Amino acid sequence: MTNLNRRKALSLGVALGLVGSASATPAWAWSPAGSVAGTGTGADPWWVWDDEVDAVVAGLFAEGRIPAVNTAMASWVNNSDPLPAGLPAELSAWLQKANKLPAWADPVKLRRAADFNRRKDTYLFMLYGLGSGIMSTVIPREAKSVYWSAGGADMQDRAAKTFTFGYDLSDLNAFEPSGQFVVTANKTRLVHAAVRHLLPQSPHWRAVADEQKQIPISNGDILITFHSLGTFVHRKLIEWKVPMSAADEEAFLHSWQVAIHLLGVREEFIPKTWAEADAQSASVLTPLLAPTFEGHELAEDLLGLTAQIDLGVTRGFLNEFVRYVLSDEIGDWLGLKRDYAAAGLIRTGWPAYIAFREGLLPVAPAGFYMFDQFIRAIAMLFLNKGGSSTTTPITIPTGNRPG
Ligand code: HEM
Repeated sequence: MTNLNRRKALSLGVALGLVGSASATPAWAWSPAGSVAGTGTGADPWWVWDDEVDAVVAGLFAEGRIPAVNTAMASWVNNSDPLPAGLPAELSAWLQKANKLPAWADPVKLRRAADFNRRKDTYLFMLYGLGSGIMSTVIPREAKSVYWSAGGADMQDRAAKTFTFGYDLSDLNAFEPSGQFVVTANKTRLVHAAVRHLLPQSPHWRAVADEQKQIPISNGDILITFHSLGTFVHRKLIEWKVPMSAADEEAFLHSWQVAIHLLGVREEFIPKTWAEADAQSASVLTPLLAPTFEGHELAEDLLGLTAQIDLGVTRGFLNEFVRYVLSDEIGDWLGLKRDYAAAGLIRTGWPAYIAFREGLLPVAPAGFYMFDQFIRAIAMLFLNKGGSSTTTPITIPTGNRPG
């Protein structure tokens, strides 16, 4: 990495609250001693995909059976539901093994995480939606695969499906038999396997992809996305001085550890502690952030969709809030137009708003009601599942974006 890139990575890391020193190169240097497994095989996550399910899904494509799988999966919703009867035998056999919590999942921590999600929901919706959601557009590999896959052409539908994942993960019973997250995670894992099969057939994606072996969504890529979600949100909550107990922080991490395990990440790569997650993030997420054509288009789509909903604020305010959460550098990459009055209001009003909300300020600060309306509108958008009355089911795509 050049000095300039290194400086860029460090300053972005500070702006995003993702502390830790950036490594000289994004090559994999993180020790498995800090993982939930505690030890490793020496594998490099950039070269690890999800071989077993990838082979099963490729076989289903070859036999034209994906539409039938989608039909069979429609009624499979709750964690306690039996596997659908109409699934092909090889998929059922794989799901028998995958469709359960790992032995190290701690039900007490998972319950606490659910309760934490409920207590802090407004900040979480805001940070996942406007922070992680927009950050995904400056993670080049993610932006390129999302843009060139079928879902890239219909961001409203894709956003609604992503809401399903977040909604099911945040539910009080997420990991319990009556919850839905284990099923949703497995469906997502199947979607990712399908994307690994489909995108290499897209000439558009192949022209811009720099992935190892030209196969997307390696374990390394999933870890990066996890850091743009869980690790980023955790750091921001600390930076914003939102009160959290050590048990809350640990529980929040645990729910993410289980979630990325369910998405097929090997235990030797899953960070054991937040300190380990921060270190991993500093070496793989921050140095890789960059603008791309695809990311620019996706960000416009996403912010355009958000701006259609009445959040009680202007598009200029929305742009500045994204800049506040993600840095001016990222705001400039995405061409977010400036609104200096809104920027000033956010810089002073937002910290005061949080302090008042958390009982740390005796009097409501100026702008309180505007921030309150904004944050509640984003929460309602999320709780209304993206504006539709029912959850949008996650289905396996059968093609790529045409062009
Ligand atoms: C699909 C979540 C990592 C690329 C999905 C879906 C969910 C999801 C819920 C289903 C919704 C849909 O079909 O649109 C996640 C989570 C991740 C992760 C929680 C990590 C923690 C990644 C990474 C990439 C990626 C690293 C690429 C580098 C895609 C693509 C689709 C998809 C291309 C399919 C879009 C389509 O339908 O065409 N993901 N994902 N995901 N994901 Fe991921």
